[in-house]
Amino acid sequence: IGLTDASFMGSGSEIRYEDLCRNIISDMNQYGLSVVDDFLGLDKGLKILNEVRSMYNAGAFHDGQLVHNMRTTTDTQPSAVRGDNNIRGDKIKWVGGNEPGCANVWYLTNQIDSVVYRVNTMKDNGILGNYHIRERTRAMVACYPGSGTHYVMHVDNPNKDGRVITAIYYLNLNWDARESGGILRIRPTPGTTVADIEPKFDRLIFFWSDIRNPHEVQPAHRTRYAITVWYFDAKEREEALIRAKLENSNANALAQLAEPDSTTTTS
Ligand code: OGA
Ligand code: OGA
Ligand code: MN
Repeated sequence: IGLTDASFMGSGSEIRYEDLCRNIISDMNQYGLSVVDDFLGLDKGLKILNEVRSMYNAGAFHDGQLVHNMRTTTDTQPSAVRGDNNIRGDKIKWVGGNEPGCANVWYLTNQIDSVVYRVNTMKDNGILGNYHIRERTRAMVACYPGSGTHYVMHVDNPNKDGRVITAIYYLNLNWDARESGGILRIRPTPGTTVADIEPKFDRLIFFWSDIRNPHEVQPAHRTRYAITVWYFDAKEREEALIRAKLENSNANALAQLAEPDSTTTTS
């Protein structure tokens, strides 16, 4: 897996930006994942880390599996027990727009957006050209608070909910996986290879969100911060939303059938 240096961001060098995007395209097509180191540089990275620490210390985080109905992974794992942390032990907060205290997370997501937009619209981008990416989820800021917290092997989007690319940005200075664990292990299918990715400071990764990339977060023994955004393919997303509407209206229709209707049951 090619490691790509992205310190272009500060320097504004178009050639290095082009290079970065080409590398991502090549890695995604070849391996289904891509790792970019030094994405924003030390200064920007530290600003984001400090902001995330403040958010976390302000107590604004919730248990990973309880919060957002987008996080449906627990539903696909029969052994899942909601509300305990055997599945995933992270604490999370969703950041949408540029709300107070999130300016640096906002900056980060904009930078990732430009890269994704660029690779999605570049010529000869292979599989990436099959998608039409114009939207993403909010940013999920996640903290594994040490003590062996982890996330079991799972697929982010097993049911075609629209998400096609997972992007994760890590914030952990001097991470030593031998001591602190917390490795992201991806087992791309098919194949026997695994990719072990350390959650290093200022590292950005991309991978296909679907069944091509089952992955797990191994037990973390130190506070581990990451920020994740998922990018939607417009068509898959639209179909998922239509399906959800149909299912809801079916459910509503069925519920109504079962209810005595006061206007028609007057006899
Ligand atoms: C997730 C996830 C991986 C990581 O939140 O779905 O797999 O490295 N996170 O934090
Ligand atoms: C660290 C660390 C915890 C925190 O960077 O060494 O674990 O709250 N920090 O940021
Ligand atoms: Mn995941």
